[in-house]
Amino acid sequence: MKPSAPLPQAVVGVGAGRALDLACGAGRHAIWLAARGWRVDAVDGSEAAIRLLLANAADAGCGGRIVGHVADLEADPAVFAIAPAAYDLIVDCYFLHQPLFAAIRKGVRPGGLFVAALHLPAPDGGRGHRFVLHPGELEGMVRAWGWDVRHSAERPADPEADPDLGVAEIVARRPDAPAGARGGVHAAHRRRPQPRRRPTPRRRSDHVRARRRLAPAATPNAPAGEQRQAGNVRARRRSSSRW
Ligand SMILES: C[S@@+](CC[C@H](N)C(=O)[O-])C[C@H]1O[C@@H](n2cnc3c(N)ncnc32)[C@H](O)[C@@H]1O
Repeated sequence: MKPSAPLPQAVVGVGAGRALDLACGAGRHAIWLAARGWRVDAVDGSEAAIRLLLANAADAGCGGRIVGHVADLEADPAVFAIAPAAYDLIVDCYFLHQPLFAAIRKGVRPGGLFVAALHLPAPDGGRGHRFVLHPGELEGMVRAWGWDVRHSAERPADPEADPDLGVAEIVARRPDAPAGARGGVHAAHRRRPQPRRRPTPRRRSDHVRARRRLAPAATPNAPAGEQRQAGNVRARRRSSSRW
């Protein structure tokens, strides 16, 4: 289970801290991070997905660093509340629920990272669903937050998750807290200087409506699939990275 492309590059030179993997599925990001020393909260609406994740994490020897949460991330009011400035890293791959962005923005600590890969409509406008972004939307949003965009790319096809849809990737860093601000920046999310270099329809029946913390267990079942959508905006290929 390889992590989505932007994640490994995003954490080069970043000390392991506390991460949140939203709609984690079977846990390719959570497990990848935990295997590298991160402590991870992994949240998904599918209990089967969380059980599979915990079983995989136990096999990988990093189960002790992951807490699985079964929660509907679309619930209003939120059943999994992202605590302000609680995470050095928040990962959101192939799960779009627009109201979460505000919580993500607050949930990343000053100096911490937001990493996402989210679907864009098919470039020919033929196939889409309602869980897609507009081209330019993800980057525009984090820039409007005032965050430092370290990587932004849009591709017309996404062989990793769905070749019939495009994908928008972002790696953005929340600015450090102003000097003298309370709380300071956790050492884990200070980047060491780097050389300049250049998802199957969601089955809601499988989702719980309440939040539950799941103890490690081994009941491997396929996780619920990806999100469905509808949109017809053309995706353009564009990319900029500053790792
Ligand atoms: C396409 S998968 C992506 C999984 C993972 N992020 C990855 O990139 O491998 C989408 C995930 O979102 C989860 N999901 C869908 N609706 C959800 C909801 N309302 N609350 C929480 N999770 C949800 C599904 O169970 C599924 O695991």
